[in-house]
Amino acid sequence: MSTKLEFVDLKSQYAALKDRIAERMQRVLDHGQYIMGPEVAELEQRLAAYTGAKHCITVASGTEALLISLMALDLKPGDEVITTPFTFAATAEMIVLLGGVPVFVDIEPDTCNIDASLIEAAITPRTKAIMPVSLYGQCADMDEINAIAARHGLPVIEDAAQSYGASYKGRRSNNLSTIGCTSFFPSKPLGCYGDGGALFTNDDALAQAAREIRVHGQSARYTHTRVGVGGRMDTLQCAIVLAKLGRLDWELQRRREIGAAYHQRLAALDLTTLTVRPDRDSVWGQYTVRVANRTHVQAVLTEAGVPTAVHYPKPLHRQPAYVQYGNPDSCPLAIAAADEVMSLPMSADLSDADMDRVVAALTAAVGLRGQ
Ligand SMILES: Cc1ncc(COP(=O)(O)O)c(C=O)c1O
Repeated sequence: MSTKLEFVDLKSQYAALKDRIAERMQRVLDHGQYIMGPEVAELEQRLAAYTGAKHCITVASGTEALLISLMALDLKPGDEVITTPFTFAATAEMIVLLGGVPVFVDIEPDTCNIDASLIEAAITPRTKAIMPVSLYGQCADMDEINAIAARHGLPVIEDAAQSYGASYKGRRSNNLSTIGCTSFFPSKPLGCYGDGGALFTNDDALAQAAREIRVHGQSARYTHTRVGVGGRMDTLQCAIVLAKLGRLDWELQRRREIGAAYHQRLAALDLTTLTVRPDRDSVWGQYTVRVANRTHVQAVLTEAGVPTAVHYPKPLHRQPAYVQYGNPDSCPLAIAAADEVMSLPMSADLSDADMDRVVAALTAAVGLRGQ
């Protein structure tokens, strides 16, 4: 059997950026400001300019970005946050950690994003925020969600952990609502080499609150104005992201091209590709398809050296930690998606030969449509 493909090819990315990364890291080692060094502010300025948001606050991870956002919005025990059950656990986890209640709303089967048309019916007097997720790299229906939120005076947090760089109606993910939260987990569209994240906002007061919460609620040194967390992104990780920015547009473009090529080449197969709405793009944080008999398909691909992953095998309203927050039989479309979704190798450095291998293995596993 030939060698196994990489699910996310970070080695090729590193090879292309090695000198730039070494130079950026060396600068940090020379100045020695490992916490809140100059690279932190430099990165925040670059990312704010890129997304168009007025403020960018880097934090320790995407999870921390969600936590700090909810703290900045003053989420209190018993407050409800409307979100999707078809996401990584962190989305609901941070709501629950603060004593809040996630209210799960079903998804659209063709994008797997939250179904905006179901949100208004889920609003109650306890609703404190709406938290859509831009799943797999494609933004949710942010304008529809913002309009509902505006009618009810609610903030919207975009969980944009998988969608840094995606565009939506000519604007950029992370700058589409009250707050955008992203992750720099290494496999994300913009990753560091450890944990990192950022939140974005145009609201001066929220930005100030987030900056304070990130450093134990300090408004000045040893003046703890509010309760916060130790939530900083370290200088070395910021330096690594800075080194990657010069290649980011190329990488995002490659991800779009690879996504489009997958779509085209898989169109005749007996599986379902996801839909990208015409007014936005996907940066394919994951390239995910829906297949029947996933266990068999994954086994055939594994045998052919093609790794796959499942994002996500069980929706959150059916996970033991969150089952108390809803009816496990609600959100039937999320339940169905969880049984069928399968992600394929995706990264900017996926070669044409690698894609040929994925497509050949998948063709062998599922066959052509109508056969
Ligand atoms: C949708 C979503 N939200 C939040 C997170 C959390 O990000 P991090 O792993 O950086 O804490 C992730 C990342 O895995 C994610 O995919």
